[in-house]
Amino acid sequence: MTTRKAPGDLRSARWFAPDDLRGFGHRSRMMQMGYAPQDWAGKPVIAILNTWSDINPCHSHFKQRVDDVKRGVLQAGGFPVEMPGISLAENFVKPTTMLYRNLLAMDVEELLRSHPVDGVVLMGGCDKTTPALLLGATSAGLPAIYLPAGPMLRGNWKGKVLGSGSDAWKFWDERRAGTISDQDWVNVEAGIARSHGTCMTMGTAATMTALAEAVGMTLPNASSIPAPDANHPRMSAECGRRAVEMVWEDLTPARIQTREAFLNAITVAMAMGCSTNAIIHLIAMARRAGQDVGLDDFERASRIVPVIANVRPSGDRYLMEDFFYAGGLIGLMSRIREHLHLDAMTVTGRTLGENIEGAEVYNDDVIRTIENPIYAEGALAVLKGNLAPDGCVIKPSACEPRFLRHTGPALVFDDYPSMKAAVDDEDLDVTADHVLILRNAGPQGGPGMPEWGMLPIPKKLVRQGVRDMVRLSDARMSGTSYGACILHVSPEAYIGGPLALVRTGDLVSLDVNARTINLDVSEEELARRRAEWTPPPARFERGYGWMFTRHIRQAHEGCDFDFLETDFGAPVGEPAI
Ligand code: FES
Ligand code: MG
Repeated sequence: MTTRKAPGDLRSARWFAPDDLRGFGHRSRMMQMGYAPQDWAGKPVIAILNTWSDINPCHSHFKQRVDDVKRGVLQAGGFPVEMPGISLAENFVKPTTMLYRNLLAMDVEELLRSHPVDGVVLMGGCDKTTPALLLGATSAGLPAIYLPAGPMLRGNWKGKVLGSGSDAWKFWDERRAGTISDQDWVNVEAGIARSHGTCMTMGTAATMTALAEAVGMTLPNASSIPAPDANHPRMSAECGRRAVEMVWEDLTPARIQTREAFLNAITVAMAMGCSTNAIIHLIAMARRAGQDVGLDDFERASRIVPVIANVRPSGDRYLMEDFFYAGGLIGLMSRIREHLHLDAMTVTGRTLGENIEGAEVYNDDVIRTIENPIYAEGALAVLKGNLAPDGCVIKPSACEPRFLRHTGPALVFDDYPSMKAAVDDEDLDVTADHVLILRNAGPQGGPGMPEWGMLPIPKKLVRQGVRDMVRLSDARMSGTSYGACILHVSPEAYIGGPLALVRTGDLVSLDVNARTINLDVSEEELARRRAEWTPPPARFERGYGWMFTRHIRQAHEGCDFDFLETDFGAPVGEPAI
């Protein structure tokens, strides 16, 4: 039982209360903005960290939604201050938003640390923004609640439902195969994203917001409310009200983000048919929270938790809008409750078990029962072997089952442009049994592990009707992607991992059930190739990229910066005022 804070204990009071020259400066500058002491004195100052921008379609409603949050903060007796954070629009930021996840995390941490704020509402949703905001808020340590942007509405084309990403890849292959017209393609383009909000397939956005909820950092069932649904502004206002109370209760991320909370998130990830990106982000988040969570925890969960969310791309039909109407995440969690740590604390001040009490599922086809899963094991599998001593990842629920055990000759590409040119070459020496390999696309090599891991099927094979092949890389792939793609090979090729030593024609074997991935080349031959290997040239000579490549961790460690990790050096502490 913790006691409630008194107004004099507020962190913001360090700025605003003292009868000294600094206090004078802070108060007079508040008054410059038209506020009177009644607005802020003795009230929790709630930062609203808004990742809106004019070029982020997934967050475009945040410009208005922030007013709902402010309304909630004011109602509960707090003082809201909107602060812009870097807006990472997945589709526009190149080479990949992953390069900037840690930059946003640093932005959040330092904004919160340096300003007179007592708690924070984190507004995010598009892919990397969820982990980034949570990473930063965790390190800042103030009471924090996550406000998910919510999925966009289902896409629509000729009366057919379209899913973000997944249908883009699918119809692109059809266009390359010549089975749809140019006009069809243009119409798909116009119908696939028809409201604000995040991707509505089980991509990284839907995955990570669900995991934010499973970890206990959102309001119950907040993560799947469609962005245009009136429930969304109501939830936003409640985030504001709740943030104020969390300050009085001193309900910090440290009290919520236990190891059990992260294990809950891993369990939910498996049941959701989550994006492969979940692995990297959750490991980073857990390590920031000081919890020892790694690939082994995913591997354990993947053996026992079935995929029950019938949402594309693991599922065959439904999208996040359907998932919400079917009961949302509390409905799903009620079905896997025996796998969850129900006593984990959440932002509501109640346990996860209390939050999901009475939750129901309204459509057993969208959220399946444990007895009738869409895939009997978890969504992800971690493979190890001489090709990936520190592991790699596959999403067996989203690939053709015949590839779960496969041996084929490697076809190796050293970089993305040469791969892209080759797959369109009608004379490419390739069969459907080949293992397409892309390397130098990892954390340092990419840089930032771009989502290149779903290598395109070579055009000549597409024409023959081939739609899936084994592909292997140290890159990531979009959560909306699918296929027999082995990703996140660690250590990456760019730093001399075994992937760097593969040559076209070498045999690669994978066995998902045995969780192995191996290169059929002798240790002596590999040693010989290793001695010949020279590191590729540096990617950056200056700036953020230079810092990034020096400090980024490998995929199996969550790709955090070493100096941001919790056990790096002494705690920063509060700023001098
Ligand atoms: Fe923003 Fe998919 S592009 S969530
Ligand atoms: Mg994505």
